[in-house]
Amino acid sequence: MSKNKLTFCCQTCGTLYPKWSGQCTGCNEWNTIVEEMNTPAPASRYQGYAGAHQPVMTRMADVTLHEAIRLSTGSQELDRVLGGGIIMGSAILIGGDPGIGKSTLLLQTVAHLGQQMKVLYVTGEESPQQVTLRARRLGLPENQLWLMADTQVESILGHVQKEKPRILVIDSIQTMHTSLLASAPGSVGQVRESAMQLVHYAKQSDTALFLVGHVTKEGSLAGPRVLEHMVDTVLYFEGEQDNRYRMIRAVKNRFGAVNELGIFAMTEKGLREVSHPSAIFLSRSAQAVSGSIITATKEGSRPLLVEVQALVDQSHMANPRRLSVGLENQRLSMLLAVLHRHTGISTHSLDVFLNVVGGLQIFEPAADLPAVFAILSSLRNRALPHDLLAFGELGLSGEIRPVPGGQERLKEAAKHGFKTAIVPQANTAKKTLDGMKIMPVQTLKEAVECLESFN
Ligand code: TYD
Ligand code: MG
Repeated sequence: MSKNKLTFCCQTCGTLYPKWSGQCTGCNEWNTIVEEMNTPAPASRYQGYAGAHQPVMTRMADVTLHEAIRLSTGSQELDRVLGGGIIMGSAILIGGDPGIGKSTLLLQTVAHLGQQMKVLYVTGEESPQQVTLRARRLGLPENQLWLMADTQVESILGHVQKEKPRILVIDSIQTMHTSLLASAPGSVGQVRESAMQLVHYAKQSDTALFLVGHVTKEGSLAGPRVLEHMVDTVLYFEGEQDNRYRMIRAVKNRFGAVNELGIFAMTEKGLREVSHPSAIFLSRSAQAVSGSIITATKEGSRPLLVEVQALVDQSHMANPRRLSVGLENQRLSMLLAVLHRHTGISTHSLDVFLNVVGGLQIFEPAADLPAVFAILSSLRNRALPHDLLAFGELGLSGEIRPVPGGQERLKEAAKHGFKTAIVPQANTAKKTLDGMKIMPVQTLKEAVECLESFN
């Protein structure tokens, strides 16, 4: 092994192997063994943030801060997701399913930035002709936008060090490979090592780096999330391809708030920002149907009105299905358990499906109450009024807990003509809202009774 410069290392327990294998004999984990360099890396290769030089101790009070300059991407939505714009020297990872619009978004962004500074777009997937064709079709400015079709990191960095672009885009990191490792491009070792070199260069040279990353079927970035730790900002594309709208969410941001959501519409002229998105997910049928209710969710700084749907049906399986799209599956099982325990309504022999319309992912518990209402509505086959809104977190002891930003949610709903809102007691509006009746509830039992008053 000492002769061989490459080694294979389990990412979970650190056991070393001379060659790859599927399962680690040290910790019995599968698919954790990754190719690595066996020689100690020269110190310069793995310097910390911005290539920190000597480790010196500094009193926090003595640290001077320079106001970080934020560069506008030309899109307010993207700026907001990034925390106010791009910071030079930062590494930004953009992840998403293939075909969701990562290349389009980046091309639009760098074309805008290319008007002010030198920008290099490295394309490992498409040819420069294809990229140019797209840029021309979208009518993008091309001033200082440089293209390069290459996949070898050392060669790319060689050019970059000479040309010194201020913005560097790598589309995509899965196509990159480094000559330090022998494994194929796209493998965890390659992705990690390539990204490490690129991020190091970005920090050292104060270049803003965008990395495009594909998401695997399981929903994680190929290369088990190794990239997330290396970069400053991680943005994920959400939404379904057959839906016109694309959501971009910041899941990690060293320079801004996380969970901020940027909303775009995919048009024949590329991605267009949607600046007033609160009602874009509200396209309900004219007739009220069972199993559907509107909630006001607050992803990031803005309230959004979305429809939560449920379908409850007789199960023909030994284990009835609980399937949830847009909400966490485990949360659904928990809601059904609380519903049974505190109101006696059983779904033991029923399949329960839950869906957030429009491909939006809701991570906050404020969707608990509307989810339960949608389930009840479907279970009893009774439609809820069209102008009814609900939000609230459901606790294990059957209590309805308040959610942050209640006032804003209610205001947004009132603006869109909702007439009734069932909300947690503590979220009751301090002022009366124009034409909206607010029904505060404290427990699930109360909430269910409240719902029954409509039928
Ligand atoms: P793309 O940016 O190539 O996706 P990714 O890089 O994430 O794989 O986007 C491709 C999709 O977007 C493709 O299915 C077509 C659609 N699209 C439009 O609808 N309008 C456009 O103007 C462009 C450029 C793409
Ligand atoms: Mg692409």
